[in-house]
Amino acid sequence: MNAQDAIARSAERVRACCGGRAPRLAVLLGSGWAALAERVRDAVALPYAELPAFPVPSVPGHAGTLLAGSVGGRDAIVLCGRRHAYERGEAGAMNGLVRTLAACGVEVLVQTSAAGSLDAAMRPGALMLIADHLNLVQRSPLVGESDSSRFVDLREAYDARLRAAAHTHAQRCEIDLHEGVYAWMLGPQFETPAEIRMLQRLGAHAVGMSTVPETIAARHAGLRVLAFALITNMGCGLADERLSHAHTIEVAAAASERIVPWFESLVGTLDL
Ligand code: HPA
Repeated sequence: MNAQDAIARSAERVRACCGGRAPRLAVLLGSGWAALAERVRDAVALPYAELPAFPVPSVPGHAGTLLAGSVGGRDAIVLCGRRHAYERGEAGAMNGLVRTLAACGVEVLVQTSAAGSLDAAMRPGALMLIADHLNLVQRSPLVGESDSSRFVDLREAYDARLRAAAHTHAQRCEIDLHEGVYAWMLGPQFETPAEIRMLQRLGAHAVGMSTVPETIAARHAGLRVLAFALITNMGCGLADERLSHAHTIEVAAAASERIVPWFESLVGTLDL
């Protein structure tokens, strides 16, 4: 099956799963955000394995299930888990998923992830809104595209109006919402202390192994993007703690008790 057919078939299945609803917003749940999946109302579940355009993740904490339902009172598609570029070396691992969302009429992609902090003022448990990114992997999910739509303008990769709405809602709910630049590193190993110092000098505030390729694919597909990074640790060498995936999931799960209910209400209030 070619990529176009896989997207068309996947979109047909996702639409059927949505019943009479036509969600305009999708939420992609990254490491440590699984608690949101439990708050989806009237959820109908579809395993990624049944969608030919979708990649099946191999990382613990990434279920590989699509939920069609409502979040904060709004019809939404919730994507439990992503495949990372480091799993098979493909920057375009999530292209089929993102393009299926666009084919289903989704207009806004809200991304979530875990990240390390490069900023002493942003401690584990803090929430950062991504204002911009550094693609330090220097790989693109658009390699292989052939028409001129591949030359995507990323001046506003992360939608300014949606970011302003997130800040307003955070103030209203007294949630401390940071904003900064996210540096994409391939992983799966964590950074060295020297790399963390380099990232600080380059102007990044957080570092992670995801989000950027999905943002590029989403902008190419015409979706607006809002993205959050939950800080699970200080960058390597900035604190004494040892880094591990288990530590990432544990810290994110604890912080998400406070953040997930706020996030759910934000999804309900966004003006699409
Ligand atoms: N580096 C990269 N990715 C991460 C980190 C980190 O320190 N923490 C959580 N995801």
